[in-house]
Amino acid sequence: MDNNATLTIGDNDFTLNMLEGAESELAIDISQLRKQSKVITFDDGYGNTGSCESKVTFIDGDKGILRYRGFDIADLANRSNFLETSYLLIYGELPTSIELSSFTERISSYADLPDDVISVIKALPAKTHPMGVLASAMQALGGTYPQFCTNNRKTDLETFDESAALIMSAMRTIASTRHRFLQNEVLPKSNPANSYCENFLNMMFRNDSDSTEIPPSVESALDLIFLLHADHEQNCSTSTCRMIASGGANPFASLAGGVSALWGPLHGGANMAVIKMLNEIHEAGDDGSRFIESAKQGKTRLMGFGHRVYRNYDPRAKILKSACDDALEALGLSSPILSIARRLEEEALKDSYFVERKLYPNVDFYSGIILQALGFPTDMFTVLFAIGRAPGWLAHWKEIAENGKKIHRPRQIYQGHTLRAYQELENR
Ligand code: ACO
Repeated sequence: MDNNATLTIGDNDFTLNMLEGAESELAIDISQLRKQSKVITFDDGYGNTGSCESKVTFIDGDKGILRYRGFDIADLANRSNFLETSYLLIYGELPTSIELSSFTERISSYADLPDDVISVIKALPAKTHPMGVLASAMQALGGTYPQFCTNNRKTDLETFDESAALIMSAMRTIASTRHRFLQNEVLPKSNPANSYCENFLNMMFRNDSDSTEIPPSVESALDLIFLLHADHEQNCSTSTCRMIASGGANPFASLAGGVSALWGPLHGGANMAVIKMLNEIHEAGDDGSRFIESAKQGKTRLMGFGHRVYRNYDPRAKILKSACDDALEALGLSSPILSIARRLEEEALKDSYFVERKLYPNVDFYSGIILQALGFPTDMFTVLFAIGRAPGWLAHWKEIAENGKKIHRPRQIYQGHTLRAYQELENR
């Protein structure tokens, strides 16, 4: 391949370098374009812009491929678990058994929150959304460990193993502490002998007096959801984390920003929006056909469908669809909204509106149904997404802290007023 591209602007030709990724993706390197030509590129929503070179995750949206550090998501879903996959994302290789034990122990050691963080969680207004609680508590956590939170890259990298374990561990406890507080219940102590998900489920739902254990099928369904959400390349929240990290901020600040970015209904908030949509369809006595028609007319959106990158089946949705069946069967539950979801999917996949636009189910289409079956309140669904995404955000923070040279700072095309004079106002 020729290593250059030529751009002609008016009478001038500009030679630009081409970059090739490990999977043969091609990009035109425009980093010198403005210097050479005084022209910038315009890409509303960044759909055609590579913002960085990264070694964490590869997606081929046309083929429906997702790989973490080179491992296919379906292989990881079958053979790994959330903590092992988290290690892979953060450190670049699957851990040895010794490395995995020490990573797990480090995470377990931070399960209990400092009192100051608990006070912040309890002090927030009662109607604060769990994602708002998580973002605030993340900043409070950094404040309680100032030695991990210096905004000096060298120091923050030296303490990164501790801060990564602290963040991953504390996110579960923050979520459960707020949930128990709103229910007027006491948070049970975590047990270091239990797995990551078992501890979380116990903190959320079990009381010390309960004689029954959390079924293993519930624990493995949650572990799978976390693993499937663990990273997804340069999405809205990860780009936000990287943007914050590029300014030199510590991991706590960076992840608090990631949590806020994830909250929106077009991103992580879609899992809540799917359940709301399915319930509304059910309550309206619709089998889904009326809803599909109104989505085609642009009056509403089929939540959990479509993706900026996938123009094919989201590989995570395929895995979750069968996990959803298994989880409901193991729990002995039948869900009327699952039947509606299946029907919506079936109809949409043969409808020309969705086919022509390459709109397929995304990861959020089935995750909400499983989370609801596991007993999580709907407004916590996005928090669960955030807990799963934490290792990805941390991996990207580390990549920037180790290699990032420039602060991220896009330009704009200004379309507002040109210079105005105060006289305009006097003549009104
Ligand atoms: N239902 C109905 N129509 C849709 C949908 C949908 N879910 N998604 C896209 N379209 C239509 C648009 O109206 C547009 O139609 P047009 O060409 O006639 O104007 C066309 O498909 C392209 O849509 P865009 O919004 O340009 O696609 P984009 O790539 O910007 O958006 C997004 C992707 C935001 C995910 C979108 O598909 C959507 O809103 N989906 C529903 C929300 C959702 O499930 N979000 C979760 C994404 S996964 C994640 O973040 C974990």
